[in-house]
Amino acid sequence: MKRQLHLNLFIQGRGSHEAAWRHPLSSTANLSDVRYYQDLARRAETGLFDSIFFADQLTTNTAQTKSAKALQVWLEPMTLLAAIATATDRIGLIATGSSTYTEPFNLARQFSSIDHISDGRAGWNIVTSWMAGAARNFGDTGQPSHAERYALAEEHVEIVKALWDSWADDAILDDRDNAIYANPERIRPIDFEGTHFSVAGPLNLPRSPQGRPVLVQAGSSEDGRDFAARHAEAVFTAHIEKATAQAFYADMKKRVITGGRHAEHVLILPGLCPTIASTEVEAKRLLLELSEYADVDIAVKYLGTWFGGHDFSGFPLDKVLSPADFPDLAELETSKSRTSMVLNLVKTEDVTLRELLARFAHIGGHYLFAGTPEQVADLIEDWFTDGAADGFNLMPPLLPAMLDAFVDEVVPLLQARGLFRTEYSGTTLREHYGLDRPPGPFA
Ligand SMILES: Cc1cc2nc3c(=O)[nH]c(=O)nc-3n(C[C@H](O)[C@H](O)[C@H](O)COP(=O)(O)O)c2cc1C
Repeated sequence: MKRQLHLNLFIQGRGSHEAAWRHPLSSTANLSDVRYYQDLARRAETGLFDSIFFADQLTTNTAQTKSAKALQVWLEPMTLLAAIATATDRIGLIATGSSTYTEPFNLARQFSSIDHISDGRAGWNIVTSWMAGAARNFGDTGQPSHAERYALAEEHVEIVKALWDSWADDAILDDRDNAIYANPERIRPIDFEGTHFSVAGPLNLPRSPQGRPVLVQAGSSEDGRDFAARHAEAVFTAHIEKATAQAFYADMKKRVITGGRHAEHVLILPGLCPTIASTEVEAKRLLLELSEYADVDIAVKYLGTWFGGHDFSGFPLDKVLSPADFPDLAELETSKSRTSMVLNLVKTEDVTLRELLARFAHIGGHYLFAGTPEQVADLIEDWFTDGAADGFNLMPPLLPAMLDAFVDEVVPLLQARGLFRTEYSGTTLREHYGLDRPPGPFA
């Protein structure tokens, strides 16, 4: 069988485009209504997607904008995944958990619970929380530096893995005749004493169906890539051109192999935001129409959040930008990957602020494309076969319209080309992603 594509659906509000919430083609559902998210997950399951994914942040941007993109409704991800688990059967369920602001014991317990509740479909997107505002909700001791956040994450993940492995797979006997529910010799403490955490363990839950929920990560800095190479099993990444996606792919696979793991055990999933219509002209018109709903002031402020709150509002929209128009990246403690992507674009092309916003800020630096179903399938096949991706983090600009267009029109083309499954062959997220179930330390 040909190498198979992996598809994850990134669910963000009414679509990943900043203006999606106002466009007539997006859902008018209340964004706190769980039925909206259950319905989207079922649509993705109809399209045989590997997984769905929810981002999360631990702060909100009220001071900045009135848009639904910035002021997204952040339902607590574990609660949300539990509700979706009971409304779906096969699709993987990935949510974000912060290694900076969540105690490892709580986090291990939450994801293990979701893995139990969903019969083995849970995945943890490990984030170090780059938004400075989050620190003010957790004691206001100031945001730890980029390096400190990754140092914390390293310990955090080690503890979480150890907790997930603290019960042997056969610890529960449930033996009524001999009055033994669980074998205490098959459950053990972890006794972790580190620089940042001290956790005794064991977890208060048996080992979950996947052994360990799937580990996902999305940092792109040097620290982020090394961390992903050590721990991640899937990596989300953002690129506005194929060449940088190829360079990232090659670099990540090299780091994974150098670290002693198999290249195919870490899937690289770049973001793809496709506007789909029956003709290319119509698709481009729809994308333009969507951009016209976007508020330039909001996009300008959104761009500023990546640059430590830098104020771009005084910049003329149609003047070509230069690197001198941006703050020094070395001074910033926010996301390194996005800031360097913007700067690279400014260095290599003559872009105005207006173009930068259209290509970058409205969709968060992911690949924006408008075309027919065939053109979308061609693009996916090209990136997949040319060393840029193992699959995609699909970010429909409008929900559910562009998800439906993808499921109804693009998925059959990918299937006809032998690139994508025609039915689920497994039941767990690990099986969908082609990943082994990790043996426990008792094995
Ligand atoms: C697809 C995608 C999803 C992300 N989701 C989140 C998220 O939910 N919460 C968050 O704090 N950061 C999120 N990030 C940011 C990364 O996790 C990471 O923190 C950021 O890129 C900074 O790390 P770096 O400096 O190593 O690149 C996401 C990034 C990408 C590409």
